[in-house]
Amino acid sequence: MGSPPLLAKIRKTFPKDAHHSEPVIEILEHWRDYFPGAKQCPPFVALDLWPMRKAMLRVSDPRLSQQFTTVKAVTRGQTSRQFMTPVSLGLDLLSTDLPTHRVWRSRFAPGFLPRNLLTHMPALLEEIGIFTAKVERQTGKPGWGKVFQLEDWATSLTFDVIARVAVDVKLGEQLVDGPGPFRDALQTQILEMRPRTPWNRLRSCSPILIYRAWRNHNTMSELLMPKVQARIAAMGSKGTTYDDKTVIDLVFKRYQENCERKGEPLKPDKAFVDTIISNLKVFIFAGHDTTSSTICFSLYQLSKHPEFLAKVREEHDAVFGADPLAAPALLLEHPHKINETPYTLAVIKETLRMYPLAGTFREGSDETVLHAEEGGAPVSTAGFDLIDGVWELHYRPDLWPRPYDFLPQRWLVGEEDPLFPVPYSWRAFEHGPMNCIGKDLALLEIRLVLVHVARRYDFETAWEEWDKIQGYTEANIDRLRGDLRTRK
Ligand code: HEM
Repeated sequence: MGSPPLLAKIRKTFPKDAHHSEPVIEILEHWRDYFPGAKQCPPFVALDLWPMRKAMLRVSDPRLSQQFTTVKAVTRGQTSRQFMTPVSLGLDLLSTDLPTHRVWRSRFAPGFLPRNLLTHMPALLEEIGIFTAKVERQTGKPGWGKVFQLEDWATSLTFDVIARVAVDVKLGEQLVDGPGPFRDALQTQILEMRPRTPWNRLRSCSPILIYRAWRNHNTMSELLMPKVQARIAAMGSKGTTYDDKTVIDLVFKRYQENCERKGEPLKPDKAFVDTIISNLKVFIFAGHDTTSSTICFSLYQLSKHPEFLAKVREEHDAVFGADPLAAPALLLEHPHKINETPYTLAVIKETLRMYPLAGTFREGSDETVLHAEEGGAPVSTAGFDLIDGVWELHYRPDLWPRPYDFLPQRWLVGEEDPLFPVPYSWRAFEHGPMNCIGKDLALLEIRLVLVHVARRYDFETAWEEWDKIQGYTEANIDRLRGDLRTRK
């Protein structure tokens, strides 16, 4: 069921900037009205979106999600490639076919392993130190400081962190006012990521957009390429040592070992280099606003729950000592100490349950069938994109008792406790061979940010002050509130 007119009707009951999952959550929350006669909420909803985009099967059952993400590797297909092309030119992990994905995933994955990430502690502390210094300048002494947009600074931080870890480039996004050249180029290209409709196809032929894309890709490549070329130049020359740290160090190390084993010359071709550059852009694309939003949502939830903030602070006192300013030096010497903060991790995981930010999709086909019930008839997925409806799944009361309550203790209780998470129902980073490659980096970065700021500052949302700074008038604000009131 589901069609553009129905979705448009439901959508009208939400504020204009509501998340695109809201209409589907609405259908699932009121499933008795939408599926009269059904005995239980359906495990998936078919959405016929013609002519806007391909039809979707939106799944809200972890058993079914596992069938197309983990039990069987399924390509993301055309829809993903078309969507990614403005940013990656279609050579990245999210765009490629399954065999190519397998090869490149195994090349990039070692750089994102937790033990390798800990070797980046000096770079991480340096970048998070810059972030914290910016926050420090806003604080009031004593009392509340100036209102500022945390998300913007957190986003710049994520650009700088990913570039350090992936390729050891200092982008310096945190050091400029407003977006620097890389962020500006990437974010301009992100605006061109659209579903493939006849109108968008026409739009993509515009000479102005083609020129702009060419310029943006040049800007990004110019910042990343020198390090990649330096790696290539160093490869094979006598005495070359890899410091085995950045994601691309490890890609080239593996490449060199492979060539040596096969007795092939060390000569990465253009396609090899282009694929690396394309993926570097996608690491930053996929890892920036996901991580920065989670930083903000974590702090937001802690600001709303002083009892949980107190526990976080207690944990940091116990692990890093009573002086918050001493924590970075301790971490520099003992990076693994960050792993001694399970409560902080529980806060982040619960934040990602309530704000999952990203989901996934795969291309349906006759070969990919779903079994809604054990032993039941298989449902063909041909003609559909399979969407993992992670938002609705993370709020299912039968999987998550008290789904609208922020409860970090879910992540610390034993199996016998009703709050213990049902396996595979937490899908913030997805599961299976195409799950998020950057998940450990994201979790490490957010944990470190919390260690830097949770004890030193109090945070509070300041919507009204922010609206005033943005120049919203009373009339604007009233209209927004009016929109909210029309919601059922
Ligand atoms: C809180 C932060 C993050 C969240 C919530 C998140 C979430 C996700 C999700 C849901 C997927 C889809 C997985 C699938 O299709 O099965 C994904 C894929 C991916 N993410 Fe993340 N991500 C985060 C941070 C990062 C970071 C920091 C990076 C890189 C540095 C990154 C790079 C990627 C890449 C490259 C993929 C595609 C993986 C593949 O196809 O092999 N993500 N992420």
